[in-house]
Amino acid sequence: MRTVLFVLTLLVWTCFSSPAAEPLQAGPALTRTPPDQEGPFYPVVRQHDEDNDLVNVAGRPQPAAGNILHLTGRVRTLDGEPVAGAVVEIWQTDPHGRYNDERDGSPGPRDPNFQYQGKATTGEDGSYSFLTLVPGGYLPRPPHIHFKVFVGNTVRLTSQIYFRNHPQAGETARFRTDELLTVDLQSVQPGEFKAVFDIVL
Ligand SMILES: [Fe+2]
Repeated sequence: MRTVLFVLTLLVWTCFSSPAAEPLQAGPALTRTPPDQEGPFYPVVRQHDEDNDLVNVAGRPQPAAGNILHLTGRVRTLDGEPVAGAVVEIWQTDPHGRYNDERDGSPGPRDPNFQYQGKATTGEDGSYSFLTLVPGGYLPRPPHIHFKVFVGNTVRLTSQIYFRNHPQAGETARFRTDELLTVDLQSVQPGEFKAVFDIVL
């Protein structure tokens, strides 16, 4: 009887604790970048210069005025694979918090030397980069940069980048959305910052 009980116990233990049990399906390695609203000022009137250098407009004699921002990152799939050849498009306000859009009636000058929109194509490793300015805020929203990611002719993501330590972020912090959309402004030197924003499709 003891032997039978022992064998039964062993059987039960084997059934419920066997390491040979079916392994759980591995989940995605990364978290998808959340979408955010497009906003009312997606550039319908295009500037002639739409490259990834927003500080220097082709044909203009001088660069835009404001704090420089080196914005870089990588576009990857949920499994961490780089997405090469994707187009990241950004549009944003200048340091005065204005869009290059007649529909934006907020006060302040526009800077003819600033390229308010730009595009970058990702490399083989999924990386992209922009030279731009730290955007100014406009109440009641926190400072942000709008972006879209195109793969082929398809818009795969429309969202926004927020800045955790922007000087104007505190007054509007309650409007900030997702931590996954928020980056730090890292000082490079006086008047120059960098930020890294990775995108997962
Ligand atoms: Fe906006």
